[in-house]
Amino acid sequence: MRRKLLVGNWKMNKTPDEAIAFASEIQKEAKFAADQKIDLGIAPTFLCLNDFRKNAPNNILVFAQNVHYEDHGAFTGEVSAAMLKSIRIDGSIIGHSERRTYDNETSKKCAKKIRALLKENLIPLYCVGETEQEFNEGKTKEVILKQLKEGLEDFKKEEMKKIIIAYEPVWSIGTGKNASEEIAENVCKFIREEVEKMIPESSEEVRILYGGSVKPNNIAGYLKQENVDGALVGGASLTPSSFAEMIHALSE
Ligand code: 13P
Repeated sequence: MRRKLLVGNWKMNKTPDEAIAFASEIQKEAKFAADQKIDLGIAPTFLCLNDFRKNAPNNILVFAQNVHYEDHGAFTGEVSAAMLKSIRIDGSIIGHSERRTYDNETSKKCAKKIRALLKENLIPLYCVGETEQEFNEGKTKEVILKQLKEGLEDFKKEEMKKIIIAYEPVWSIGTGKNASEEIAENVCKFIREEVEKMIPESSEEVRILYGGSVKPNNIAGYLKQENVDGALVGGASLTPSSFAEMIHALSE
């Protein structure tokens, strides 16, 4: 049985003080989530990771938004998986569409980053999704299959079970144009089937999240779908009150 997972991606928002304030305001809700067997995660900026980890409830998974694939060296501006581990970070988002668009993040590069995280026993949260044009041209599955093959094909069964996948259609991110529950379920089901073909006997345990304009008033509908195990949320994860509302929506 896959546990529900709600992850907030803060993107380039919040100072360390604001992250600490969020951590203290969410204590009660985190306990409630634990009682309801709902897993929680937050991905702050690098700048806030240490303060957030130290102040957040222990049952909140803390993710970076990016990681480098080497352990150390001459890579200006980068942070390694070993460094994240040294401050008790649990994992990292990999291949978010904003990084694919603005930072030349390719699926092949993502595979190296996922490898680096697994080496440190950290959790990769690998994002896939098609652009609006690709969606309109009916290429969703083709695009996602390529992202899955290039990003994940080399992993073994036990490694694959530790990887979380997020389906985030680019056209739904920050736009208020949600994918319907039916689209989310169809694509997440497709992802599970393709993971199973690539890495047999792994996919039943892999958690697949939907992301893109998820809000307190629509999250429950996605989670009712058989193959949607959680949500990756941007804007609506920024205030403790709306994060808490989503936790409650998931518990019903
Ligand atoms: P929004 O929830 O703001 O649409 O962002 C989704 C997202 O990109 C999460 O990674």
